Amino acid sequence: MTKKQIHLNGFIQNSPSPHSTGLWKHELDKGTHHNRLDYWTDAAKTLERGKFDAMFIADVLGAYSVYGGNHDAAAKHAVQLPAHDPTLVIPAMAAVTEHLGFAPTVSTTYAQPYSLARQLSTLDHLTDGRVAWNVVTSYLESEAVNLGLTERLPKEMRYNRADEFLEVVYKLWEESWDDEALLYDREKDAFADPDKVHLINHEGEFFNVPGPHLVEPSPQRTPVLFQAGGSPRGRDFAAKHAEAVFTKGHSLDAIAAYVQDIRQRAEASGRNRDDVKVFPMVLPIVASTEAKAQKKLEALQESVSYEGTASLLSGHTGIDFSQYDPDQYIEDIDTEAVQGNLDMYTKDQDKKWTLREAVKNHGLGNGTVKFVGTPEQIADKIEEWTTIGDADGFNIAQSYSPGTFEEFVDEVVPELQKRGIYRTEYEGETLRENMFGKGQKYIAENHPAKRAGVTNEWN
Ligand SMILES: Cc1cc2nc3c(=O)[nH]c(=O)nc-3n(C[C@H](O)[C@H](O)[C@H](O)COP(=O)(O)O)c2cc1C
Repeated sequence: MTKKQIHLNGFIQNSPSPHSTGLWKHELDKGTHHNRLDYWTDAAKTLERGKFDAMFIADVLGAYSVYGGNHDAAAKHAVQLPAHDPTLVIPAMAAVTEHLGFAPTVSTTYAQPYSLARQLSTLDHLTDGRVAWNVVTSYLESEAVNLGLTERLPKEMRYNRADEFLEVVYKLWEESWDDEALLYDREKDAFADPDKVHLINHEGEFFNVPGPHLVEPSPQRTPVLFQAGGSPRGRDFAAKHAEAVFTKGHSLDAIAAYVQDIRQRAEASGRNRDDVKVFPMVLPIVASTEAKAQKKLEALQESVSYEGTASLLSGHTGIDFSQYDPDQYIEDIDTEAVQGNLDMYTKDQDKKWTLREAVKNHGLGNGTVKFVGTPEQIADKIEEWTTIGDADGFNIAQSYSPGTFEEFVDEVVPELQKRGIYRTEYEGETLRENMFGKGQKYIAENHPAKRAGVTNEWN
C-alpha cells in the first residue's frame, strides 16, 4: 500500500520577521530585505527546490495597536509593521519558478469582489494556474478605521459578508465566460463571442455586481481557496468554501480534534471528508543532534522581543496585555479577534498559561508547535501528526528567513522523500493538480463555486 503523501506550504509575509517577533535582528535573518525582489525570488526558488505546493503569504491591513492602545511597540519591534503588499511580488516569483503556487491573503471585509476577482484571475493567467487565495475576514480595529469603517464589523457580519463575497466571485470566475467564448477569429473580426460572455446580475445584502467578469477564463478559473477559521462560524465557513485549511496549535490532540471537526463540518455542508486539506503550522528547528537543536531553540528565544510579542498577541487575541501582570493567567473569552490564537492558551487540557509563558511561546512561529531535533526526529513528528492527527501536511513557518526554509528543504525534505511520504517530482501543471492530483485543474463539482446560483438573466 502506498503511504499517505504529505503536502507542504511555506508561510511568509511581506514584512521583516513577521512570525517570529524580533528575529529581524538575528545574524541569519534577511527579513529586512523583504522590500527587494531577490528576497522573494530566492525564497520561491528554495521552496520549489523542496517541491512545496505553495508559498502562503499572510497579510494584515493595519498596525497592531491593541497593546497600550497605540502602535509604539509594533513599530519599535517590527510587529508586522512595515507590512507590504502580498500580491505584487508574485509575478517576479512566477517568472523564476515553474511549479510553485502562490497564496496571497486578501480580506473579504475590505476588498471588493469584482476587482479582486479580476486581480486573482490576472495572476492565475500570469502564473499559468498557480494561484491560490487565503480568504480572511480580518481582525484588527486599525484595519477597519483606515479602510472606510468607523469600527471593526462584528465577526458574524464579517463572515456573512465573506459568504456573499465568495458567491459573487464564484459567479464571475465560473459562470461569466463560457469555455468557448474566445474566438480569436481574424476573418470574422471577432475576438470573442458576445453571446458567451454573460452578466452575472448579482444582487445581495452586501454587493450588487452585474458583471461581466473583466478577465477571460484563467487556467484554474477559481483559484485554490485557502482559509484559516478557528471560531465555530469560521470553521463552518472553512468547511463550506476552503480547499485547504490552515491552523495553529501546540499539541497533537488539539490538532487531531480540529482536523476531525473540519472533516465533519465539510460532510455536513455536502462535501466529502477529504475534500478539505488541513495544514497545521509548524516551526522546524533542525540540527545534526537533538542537543544542538535544543540549544538552537534557546538561542532563538534570546532574539525574541517580549514587548513586541505581547503586542502581537494583543492584536491576535484582542486583549490589551499591557494591562496584565506577566504572571497573570490568560482569560478564556469569545474574542472578535482570532479565536484560535486565544484558544491555544486558554483551552489547553495540559496547562494554564500565564502571559509570560504565552509570550515566550508566541514569539517563535506565532506560537505554533515547534518540531525540534534532527531531520529524522522531525520526520518522525511529521509522520505522527499526519497518521494519528490526520493532517494532510504542514505550513512551514520560519524563525530566521529564508534560512529556515533552506534548512528544511536541504535537511528534512530528503528524509521525507526517503520514507516515501513526499513527492520527488511535481505531479501536475497547476497548483490544484499538485494539491489534489492530476486532472483536478478546476474546483470540484460538489463545491459551492459550482452551485453559485446562475441567475439565468443572461444579457
Ligand atoms: C495559520 C493562520 C494564518 C492566518 N493568516 C492570516 C492572515 O494572514 N491575515 C489575517 O487577517 N488573518 C489571518 N488568520 C486569521 C484567520 O484567517 C481568521 O480571519 C481569524 O482567525 C478570525 O476568525 P476566527 O476567529 O474564526 O478564526 C490566520 C489564522 C491562522 C490560524
